[in-house]
Amino acid sequence: MGKPKEEYEEIESEEYYTVDDDDDDDDDDDEDEEEEPEKWKRHYSSKHRILLVGEGDFSFSLCLARAFGSAHNMVATTIDTQENIEKKYSNGVANVRELEDRGCLVLYGVDAKEMSQHFFLRTQRFDRIVYNFPHVGFLYREGSYCQIQLNKRLVKGFLSNSKVLLKEDNGEIHVTHKEGDPYDKWDLVKKAEKIGLVMHDIVPFSKNDYPGYNNKRAHGNLADAPFNLGYCSTYKFKLSYSVNSQNNKKEVPAFEAMEYGKLDLIVQGWIT
Ligand SMILES: C[S@@+](CC[C@H](N)C(=O)[O-])C[C@H]1O[C@@H](n2cnc3c(N)ncnc32)[C@H](O)[C@@H]1O
Repeated sequence: MGKPKEEYEEIESEEYYTVDDDDDDDDDDDEDEEEEPEKWKRHYSSKHRILLVGEGDFSFSLCLARAFGSAHNMVATTIDTQENIEKKYSNGVANVRELEDRGCLVLYGVDAKEMSQHFFLRTQRFDRIVYNFPHVGFLYREGSYCQIQLNKRLVKGFLSNSKVLLKEDNGEIHVTHKEGDPYDKWDLVKKAEKIGLVMHDIVPFSKNDYPGYNNKRAHGNLADAPFNLGYCSTYKFKLSYSVNSQNNKKEVPAFEAMEYGKLDLIVQGWIT
């Protein structure tokens, strides 16, 4: 199941993701190896490097891994310890085992608010960073000021840390959450804009799109129970700039610069 820290450090120094260190004269071998065809599950591709954050029983990660056939492109994380996953979820251990068998790196004790400092994650960049139903747990009433503040802080921390770990080239951060009161008081989109992200799409979320996914309460005596999803959406964010591959300069589409009040970026010469 979980790998000891030393093993990750070894991975880090060797580079976790595939490195082609073949000599040129081995080209014949390369021709023999057929590249795996790209597979999609909704917004996610087997070609994306995907970071999953705040997983419950890891069933969402496992759904993607099964759809891709392999999970070498995925890092699945939880803030829980390995022992807690075992205690809280009836399928947690089995899901982690299958994920690891399929090549996924599973990390415990990853705090979304600090993950850009994580000893392994800080060396990586991802095409997709996904957090489904962020929630700190029921410390106060769901609609109370204190509970909303705590959830807002979690989401803000997640977004700003994800921004650091996102690939500049077409990277996307996905947050799925419930619509309506009190969730719309979290100011997700405004928070993202303040951090330097733009929301470029919002799509209804349907659990049926992800066979095997079991959304979990994750807290208290009913941690293993599902919660009512109601109407929920996936919010897709990207960096408010892109990098021009010709000259490596940051560019902001002019309309976005106007729309999101980023005129300072024009002054800084990011738009030509
Ligand atoms: C409502 S549950 C959703 C769990 C899972 N994503 C799902 O869709 O079933 C909220 C999740 O956020 C996690 N969480 C709370 N605070 C966190 C933090 N600071 N960093 C990472 N995860 C956190 C909880 O452990 C829990 O797994």
